[in-house]
Amino acid sequence: MQRQWWQASVGYQIWPKSFNDSNGDGMGDIPGILEKLDYLQQLGVDLLWLSPIYPSPLADEGYDISDYCGVDPRFGTMADLERLISETKRRGMRLLLDLVVNHCSDEHPWFQKALADPEGPYGQYFYFRRGKNGAPPCNWRGYFGAGVWSPVPGRADLYYLHLFHEKQPDLNWSNPALRREIYQMVNWWLDKGIAGFRVDAIVNIGKPDSFRDYPADRPDGLADCCNMLAEPSAKAHLAEYLTELRDNTFRPHGAFTVGEVFDTDPAELAAFIGPDGYFSSMFDFAATCCGKSPKGWWAARRPSPTDYRDCCFSSQKAAQGVGFLSNVIENHDEPRGASHYLPLGFEEQPRAQKALAAVTLLLRGLPFLYQGQELGMTNKPFASIHEVDDVNTKGEYAACLAAGLRADDALEVIAHYSRDNARTPVQWSAQANAGFTAGTPWMPVNLRYRSVNAEAQQADPASVLNFYKKLISLRKDPAYKETLVWGDFEPLYTEREGLAAFWRRADKKLLVLSNLSDEAMLLPLPGPVRAVVLNSRQLPPELEQQALILAPWQALVLEME
Ligand code: GLC
Repeated sequence: MQRQWWQASVGYQIWPKSFNDSNGDGMGDIPGILEKLDYLQQLGVDLLWLSPIYPSPLADEGYDISDYCGVDPRFGTMADLERLISETKRRGMRLLLDLVVNHCSDEHPWFQKALADPEGPYGQYFYFRRGKNGAPPCNWRGYFGAGVWSPVPGRADLYYLHLFHEKQPDLNWSNPALRREIYQMVNWWLDKGIAGFRVDAIVNIGKPDSFRDYPADRPDGLADCCNMLAEPSAKAHLAEYLTELRDNTFRPHGAFTVGEVFDTDPAELAAFIGPDGYFSSMFDFAATCCGKSPKGWWAARRPSPTDYRDCCFSSQKAAQGVGFLSNVIENHDEPRGASHYLPLGFEEQPRAQKALAAVTLLLRGLPFLYQGQELGMTNKPFASIHEVDDVNTKGEYAACLAAGLRADDALEVIAHYSRDNARTPVQWSAQANAGFTAGTPWMPVNLRYRSVNAEAQQADPASVLNFYKKLISLRKDPAYKETLVWGDFEPLYTEREGLAAFWRRADKKLLVLSNLSDEAMLLPLPGPVRAVVLNSRQLPPELEQQALILAPWQALVLEME
């Protein structure tokens, strides 16, 4: 596989509104990110992905963009962003922006012009369709729970398509004029000096040639819009647009891209991330999807640590020899990884969080941390549905009630899965509002900040933060980089519940063992140990001649003969 500059990087996602507030308005901003670059550099991350910072009415927290070439004044100015680009470069870091081009905001001038004249040129930038016997053109349900068609104001029987919120009209990629505008915008950003993009919701740009009904799958009589992704015409268009996008933008710039791609058939992996793939990498969402149900969050089952391991391992096997996945345990759309993958009662325990961290950081691929993950931030408590900000959570709450759940049970469901869990302010210190803002935070801080915060963890050698630092510096250590970045992956002891064990092998033979359970484990050793490279516990590991005892939640990296 061809070596690329980004393969040895460690990614870090910033969700700007909740990262760090520099001006006391209660919202994070770009100058606030600049203040924390030393922190990020010390952590060792070097590929920073910023969730959207463009002007937006925030119907979907910035994933509804009203100007692709601007910076929202809430987050700062273009000069601030340019300073961030140069300051990251100066530190040997690279900056990625979020490319959100399946849809824009209904307040984008393109859509405003399209509404004014649906038959005119901007009408062709979107999907306008006539209704069917007084009903919308087809029966799809969008990602946030409502129907995907909304009426065009003042135009009886005309609808526009939005797979997400009604304020996020889908862009019509079958129109070459729209595609040209997008490529121009992408190149404009790359010319400014960003290193590339995280590419949002991108599989949805390929639409089928006709919008037809699918069998209803919920009591609302609608059908999941995801069904369209399997239509051969949608797949063919997706391939055509992604190839063109890559060839006109990313490739000539040598840009790094990571796609938000769900549900890929292993047979299609090469098309996405192979040597001639559309993207450099894509997120591995196998564990994210594990236990989810098409019926909604209320019907989801939480994965066990063993499920987490099995999902990661099957993705690793599928990607080996094909390309580089980007490994995550959480992002701005998911519950906190510690709260989701660790068993009840262990989510707040640093030793359990470290065991999970060791797996995600030492797999083959590009690790992406999400802000606060390195501190062991966990889900937040919810006292009422009125505290919810996230549009997706509101849709899922409605789906819970429609399925017959009582209000308190519905609240319990959304409290676990809500995207707000990941969006509470980063816990910087034990000071007021976790040191995030001098004002009133736009979303309350998680009260655990008094004990769980960056300042306290920096001073504690046994903290989760310092363990993440060790893991990252191990990946970058010249003695182990070849093995941990480019080496093979091979699982072992997969019959053992709650154990993640795997080889990483190249010039060195590293055995990664992570006990994702509260029971000690006696394990045979597949050969003599040359060195203990990493140990998540203070005490030395209990090594015998041909066996070792792995303490509950212990993570070890052993260099073997
Ligand atoms: C992606 C984003 C998510 C957003 C959606 C629509 O899934 O990660 O936050 O709501 O796309 O843009």
